[in-house]
Amino acid sequence: MPAVLLRRAAARGDPLARLLRDPGLREEPHAVHEQLRARGPLVPSALGPVTTSHAAASELLRSERFGVGFDWSTAPRPLRRLLEFGDDPAATGVAEPPSMLVVDPPDHTRYRRLVSRSFTPRAMAAAEPVVQRTAEALLDDLARRARGGEVVDLVAAYAEPLPVRVIADLLGVPWDRQEDFLRWGAAAAATLDPGLPFRRSLAADRALRALHGFLREHFARLRREPGEDLVSRLVTGTGEDALTDRELHATVMLLLGAGFETTVNLLGNAVVLLDRHPDQWRALAADPAGWPLAVEEVLRHDSPVQITGRTVRTDTVLAGQPLAAGSRVTLLLGAANRDPGVFSDPARFDVTRGNARDHLAFSAGIHYCVGAGLARLEGVVGLRALTERFPDLRVAGRPVRRDLHTLRGFARVPVTLR
Ligand code: HEM
Repeated sequence: MPAVLLRRAAARGDPLARLLRDPGLREEPHAVHEQLRARGPLVPSALGPVTTSHAAASELLRSERFGVGFDWSTAPRPLRRLLEFGDDPAATGVAEPPSMLVVDPPDHTRYRRLVSRSFTPRAMAAAEPVVQRTAEALLDDLARRARGGEVVDLVAAYAEPLPVRVIADLLGVPWDRQEDFLRWGAAAAATLDPGLPFRRSLAADRALRALHGFLREHFARLRREPGEDLVSRLVTGTGEDALTDRELHATVMLLLGAGFETTVNLLGNAVVLLDRHPDQWRALAADPAGWPLAVEEVLRHDSPVQITGRTVRTDTVLAGQPLAAGSRVTLLLGAANRDPGVFSDPARFDVTRGNARDHLAFSAGIHYCVGAGLARLEGVVGLRALTERFPDLRVAGRPVRRDLHTLRGFARVPVTLR
């Protein structure tokens, strides 16, 4: 039903519906972002108000007047029935409760406290050798293939396996299931797009069931023989730290999926952008101290998570406009990160941009990305190691975009390594 409504709205020219449906806008959504920006900080759409403004988005993400949970209590009864009917724990996705992404305090606070201990700066410093080793091992494989001078898909050979193996390692999940994780993760990522067409939502449903099945067996193993890893800790938590089965599935599925489905886009986007700006790539090769800022600029310029939303908790005013409790606001994070009021000449890619870090690519407020430190580490270590090993790497052919709207990245990036 949402897919049909969205298709109709897109056909009528509704800008947000077009951004969520029109495959042509996956490559270049920025013209539509700028049309919206020209109309003001908060623009009506078929899905409610939408913002491209950095200030309005920051306020939405940081203020307690806005939350993430949907309020269905006022929805028409048939719709509520349909939702209850469709609520199946064995196929719950990453954007459905009790995933912390879509849960408000106090539950959100509880879930977040349990996982964030594993992503502190100290934990990330300890993870650095794992990221470096994983990158080097993948680059060794690539080097063997490069001897033949063949064109290699950098996404399949590097951008995907690097974050999958690292998050699997951190979570204590065996990465010999890498291919399964990638398949399940892609399906879970597709469910982030509102109004997914019927056939794709069926495929996502099948993949989510398989992923939950794997997690069920994995949790049973850890209950018998817990290790030192985060998932063992979550599985064996007691008292305040105890999670129900459903909470456990939601939390681990989110960590696993978010752990690679986003970083793969950061790495792919970075390589394509740097290939288009070879002078900047050469400068980074000469002075690797520039990588942390370069990663921020990639996140700003081509934000892997383009869209999120917030629910208005109490009647309020935002950017001078009244918003009713229960209404939903869409945040175009990728557009907020190109707000000319914050970033000068925002469409320009500049790895030395001083305030690149002011982007909202990792969100802000209480839902600020738990894995931001890990993603930054993978970006810096992954791109630095790639550049050192293959200084003459070039994109060879047309990169293919992923068939997604909420996430922005490439499915394939053909390269030669020389
Ligand atoms: C470039 C890579 C990444 C990007 C761009 C990214 C982006 C985001 C964004 C935008 C949100 C918040 C959405 C909102 O406020 O509505 C988020 C939340 C989250 N991210 Fe990331 N992420 C990345 C990597 C990771 C990694 C590696 C992990 C692994 C642990 C991770 C785990 C999470 C979790 C658990 C949340 C939910 C936090 C909460 O709701 O409190 N992310 N991420």
